[in-house]
Amino acid sequence: MSNGTLTRQIFRRKPAAMLMTEAGGGGLKRALGALDLTMLGIGAIVGAGIFVLTGVAAAKYAGPAVTLSFVVSGFACAMAALCYAEFAAMIPIAGSAYSYSYATMGELVAWIIGWDLVLEYAVGAAAVAVGWSGYLQVILRGFGIALPNAIAHAHRAGAGGVIDLPALVIVLLISGVLYGGISESARLNSVIVAIKLGAIALVIVAGAFYVRPANWSPFAPMGWVGVMKGAAVIFFAYIGFDAVSTAAEEVIDPNRDLPIGILASLFVCTALYIMVAAVLTGMVPARTIDLNAPLASAFVHRGLNALSGIISLGAVAGLTSVLLVLLLGQSRVFFAIARDGLLPAAFSRIHPRFRTPYIPTTLTGIAVGITAALLPIQEIAELTNIGTLFAFVLVCLGLMILRWIAPEMRRPFRTPMVPMVPILGVVFCLYLMLSLPGVTWIRFFVWMAIGFGIYFSYGRYHSRVAADADRGSAAAD
Ligand code: ALA
Repeated sequence: MSNGTLTRQIFRRKPAAMLMTEAGGGGLKRALGALDLTMLGIGAIVGAGIFVLTGVAAAKYAGPAVTLSFVVSGFACAMAALCYAEFAAMIPIAGSAYSYSYATMGELVAWIIGWDLVLEYAVGAAAVAVGWSGYLQVILRGFGIALPNAIAHAHRAGAGGVIDLPALVIVLLISGVLYGGISESARLNSVIVAIKLGAIALVIVAGAFYVRPANWSPFAPMGWVGVMKGAAVIFFAYIGFDAVSTAAEEVIDPNRDLPIGILASLFVCTALYIMVAAVLTGMVPARTIDLNAPLASAFVHRGLNALSGIISLGAVAGLTSVLLVLLLGQSRVFFAIARDGLLPAAFSRIHPRFRTPYIPTTLTGIAVGITAALLPIQEIAELTNIGTLFAFVLVCLGLMILRWIAPEMRRPFRTPMVPMVPILGVVFCLYLMLSLPGVTWIRFFVWMAIGFGIYFSYGRYHSRVAADADRGSAAAD
């Protein structure tokens, strides 16, 4: 395809999507501002990563140098975030990385990335739901309530269990909220974010008094390799800032507010994570950090049981808002894909009263709920990291392509230092992908192969591009 054709495609596509969403035109409802978006970003970001995986990364790989792991992962995300911000301001339509690659690299690459985003949003949501259930049960046990094993977790060899009922219930409840409207969802999210930021602040401020600097030595017991493996694991903690961009069509002033929302939420979270990691590894020796509830357990370890209970409550709140944003993101990506004909049209239908994409919201809720309730999700959660890193790589590449093929396009926000920033984004994200285990790579390839199967048996024949081509040849006849 020539540069001119691609540029025309970009310009043609943008108004088509925007027209559908004009206020009053039956599109999604525009109700969000910069602060809502920043809160939405923090809502999506601070969750299982900091409340659970920091312990895994510190105890198994990085030691106290997990602070450096957070810096490395945060840097990779910042490079990608700067690229997302340019795209989000320029092409403010639902669908995030899917929509950007559709405009820049065409339908097939867009489908690949859209399918890949299911790993980020839906599989990520299932993993977070299981973490939510775990933390809830810690709190319930604190009140002397133990759920019967059969409904406490999915079947695990040697541990029994049938269904993780709390995980199923929370996913369905949140899907219900999302079905009911975007303003209500954002309002609920803001309340939850305030609670979890309170818990994080408590960890940092109260925990600082219990730091023993001797615990920071040895600083990096497994050297740089350990730091990188830790970075690949805790990358999960940053996932979510890009979800802000999936709500693009629900933002009042997307050109101004989307970049602010994406960058501000990432900046706040990076600073908090580094402080939490420093405090945690200062409170307890890295090797002895609890792998399930590291922050709450560190406080128990130092005899601070009441504070530990408050932190657990904050964790449950935190994971709830992560779920909300991940489920929101997944339904918007399906919505955007279906609008281009790559999935059945029902996925792009908007509820006449609530003005939400109710069919993908419902189906995502059911699928994620069942996955979380029945499957050994911990084992496939690393798929979320590899899938998201791959999406970031494509977004950074897409930015460079678009600068080259359409330099004249209006860019309300320009990524600074191009091509250095996107190149650094690609290199760091690939490096993190390579630090993940081989089995994760195999699962990733299997997932993508399934995606290709769907595209070549359905999407390719039903897409807007295919319909345009048909009309073109009919006119020529
Ligand atoms: N960043 C999100 C979390 O840590 C996905 O739970």
